[in-house]
Order: sequence, then structure tokens, then C-alpha cells
Amino acid sequence: MTSTIAVIGSTGKTGRRVADLLDERGETVRRLARGTSPAFDWEQPEGWARALEGVERLYAAYVPDLAVPGADVAIARLVEVARNAGVRRIVLLSGRGEAGARTCEELVLNAPGIAGTVVSASWFTQNFTEGMLASAAATGVLAMPAGGVREPFIDVDDIAAVAVEALTGDGHAGRVLEVTGPESLTFAEVASLLSEVTGREIVYVPVTLDEFYTAVAEEDGPEVATMLTELCREVLDGRNEATTTTVSDVLGRPARDVRTVLNEASFIGA
Ligand SMILES: NC(=O)c1ccc[n+]([C@@H]2O[C@H](COP(=O)([O-])OP(=O)(O)OC[C@H]3O[C@@H](n4cnc5c(N)ncnc54)[C@H](OP(=O)(O)O)[C@@H]3O)[C@@H](O)[C@H]2O)c1
Repeated sequence: MTSTIAVIGSTGKTGRRVADLLDERGETVRRLARGTSPAFDWEQPEGWARALEGVERLYAAYVPDLAVPGADVAIARLVEVARNAGVRRIVLLSGRGEAGARTCEELVLNAPGIAGTVVSASWFTQNFTEGMLASAAATGVLAMPAGGVREPFIDVDDIAAVAVEALTGDGHAGRVLEVTGPESLTFAEVASLLSEVTGREIVYVPVTLDEFYTAVAEEDGPEVATMLTELCREVLDGRNEATTTTVSDVLGRPARDVRTVLNEASFIGA
């Protein structure tokens, strides 16, 4: 009998790809999100035991972010429920350079009886195609509080492939896999690439953190605006500019660059 691998966040950018790759490998996958059956809702821990019944390995993408207050309580509880359910391996997605995420990372890495791995990712390239910055392709404006900082944007397919290796292989227990793309680009350079692949002019507009907060709050409310502003304040200071070789070390092939990923994207709404 094959063991079941559960994917929390299975309708999201990473989880969908992790679940698809596991399916392709013939693994038994339980996709979990708020609308699945069984459902998994971070706000309703009383349903977690049911969702994880019979699960041996687990991928978890927490929302909104491991650095928000209360995330550590949720992850500690998840680890406990998972252990009681018989889970023996957890792969947790985290954000590179986020000091506030460390408590959650340690909870998974040091969970007794569980082989824990953290996949600590730089900014997703898919933020520009299916995430929070996808509107730039339609509006022609990429406004970010990033100045001229460089970020080694990573392909989410690469993150998923690394996560699947950690879930199915034996070599990554106890490790933090710090994954980045192969090159570091400024947001202005990404705007140029977006212009090139869409055939329309997209300009990078550097904004202040206050301006960014106001714009996000208008669209998504103060809670999301506070979270994203604090995230930008922390990680867009140059700390994440260096690339790592983790993707190629784990997968045996190079990480995919931004141009390649943008070229393949459909730019819905553009
Ligand atoms: N974007 C980046 O550049 C970046 C970089 C590094 C790390 N990260 C981390 O990536 C994580 C997000 O992962 P992702 O981008 O793969 O997901 P995502 O695309 O943001 O999608 C969120 C997923 O979580 C589910 N979800 C939303 N609210 C939920 C709730 N209350 N309970 C249970 N599930 C819920 C959604 O499914 P339903 O709505 O169907 O329930 C969906 O499957 C965050 O922890 C973030 O910090 C992001």
C-alpha cells in the first residue's frame, strides 16, 4: 500500500504544482484547502485531525505568512496534530530572510519523531503572472517599495520540484533548503522583461513604504497592507540579493530564469 502525502494549500501557487508533480510520480496525494473534502482551514484547527487521517508525509504552505503573529501557534498545533495522525515527514514553505518565520521553521525542523525540511524561497517569479503583481502586465505600472534592490526571483515550478524531492527522498531531513532563481534582477529589469514578452510598455515605479501601504489598503484592506508592507520593509533591503545553488544541487539541473518563466505565462487580463 502506498503512503498518502497531503498538500496543504493545494489550490495555491506552490501547492497545486507540488500535488501535480506527486500525481505524475504515482504518489497517493490528498489535496487540502478550504474547499476540498476533507477540508483544511487554518482558522478551524478542530478539522485538522480529520484532514490528516492516514497521512504519512505533508507539504504545508501557510497563509498569509509565517511571520505574522499567531503563525507559530498554528504551526505548533499542526505539528502536534500531524504527529498524532502518524505523519513522519513535513516540508514547510517559508520566506527567505524573514526573521519572524524562524520560530515556525524551528518547530518543524525540531519536531520529535518527524523528519522536517524547510523550503525557504525568495520572491516568486509567478507573483508577476498569477500573484499579487500580476496586474502590472495589464496596467503598465509595476509599483513597489523596492528602490533599486535586486531579488533572485524563483520559478514556482522549481520550488515545487525541490519540495517534492524533500517529500519523497531521504536526504533532506533537518535541512533548510534556501532556494532562489539563477540571477538577481531589479524590479526595473523585470518591468523591461515584462514589456518585452507582452509587447506593451510596463514601467517600474519605485514608491515609498507609506505609498505602498495606502495603495494595498485601498484594494485589500489594512490587515493585508500591514503584512505586505512589513514584509517589503524587511526583505527588500538587499539581504536576499545573493543567489544560491540549492535548486541545481537538489534537482541536478539549473534553476529557471525570469525570462523563461514570463515567456511561458499566459498573462490573463493583460
Ligand atoms: N509570493 C512569494 O513571493 C513568496 C515567497 C516566499 C514564500 N512565500 C510564502 O508562500 C506561502 C503561500 O503559498 P502559495 O503562494 O503557494 O499559496 P497562494 O497561491 O497564496 O494560495 C494560498 C493557498 O492557501 C489556501 N488558503 C487560503 N486561506 C486559507 C485558510 N484560511 N486555510 C487553509 N487554506 C487557506 C488557498 O486555498 P483556498 O483559498 O482554496 O482555501 C490556497 O491553496 C506563504 O506562506 C508565503 O509567505 C511566498
